[in-house]
Amino acid sequence: MRNLIALIIALLLGAVWFFTQSKDMPPDQVVKSQTPFVRLPEFTAAARAGETFFNAKCATCHGVNGTGSDKGPPLIHKIYEPNHHGDESFQHAAKSGVQSHHWNFGNMAPVAGITRAEVAKIVIYIREIQAANGI
Ligand code: HEC
Repeated sequence: MRNLIALIIALLLGAVWFFTQSKDMPPDQVVKSQTPFVRLPEFTAAARAGETFFNAKCATCHGVNGTGSDKGPPLIHKIYEPNHHGDESFQHAAKSGVQSHHWNFGNMAPVAGITRAEVAKIVIYIREIQAANGI
């Protein structure tokens, strides 16, 4: 009997925890993928433009909203915080490709048909999602 009461209390505490956790993340703003949960901010116009370029040229590998895929790493990840991978590393990645060094997806080939100005918009887009997720 005492065990049963302990079990019920544990379940109730679990339920309370679950609801308080999920409450501050509206489901429509939470994207599930390789980086388990990504909170999306209110994007600026520049970031919205970057999203279009990102979806066209980067998302096949780096996933929707930069959450990663089976072909490339998530960019919404502490490794890619501005201090460690500055904006120029995005320009360099797009122009010259990347030798794999952090993950096991292989190398990234240079991305054809994208300009510096477009990559700059992509960086704004990624930085805004990073910031919304404490990166
Ligand atoms: C064909 C798949 C693919 C595409 C398309 C792709 N990437 Fe990558 N990207 C990768 C892989 C794989 C890595 C290497 C990860 C590692 O370090 O092991 C990578 C790494 C990176 C890095 C990290 C660079 C560094 O210095 O470590 C950045 C930034 C990046 N990609 C940005 C982009 C952007 C911006 C685009 C679109 C313009 C893009 N990628 C398109 C697969 C891809």
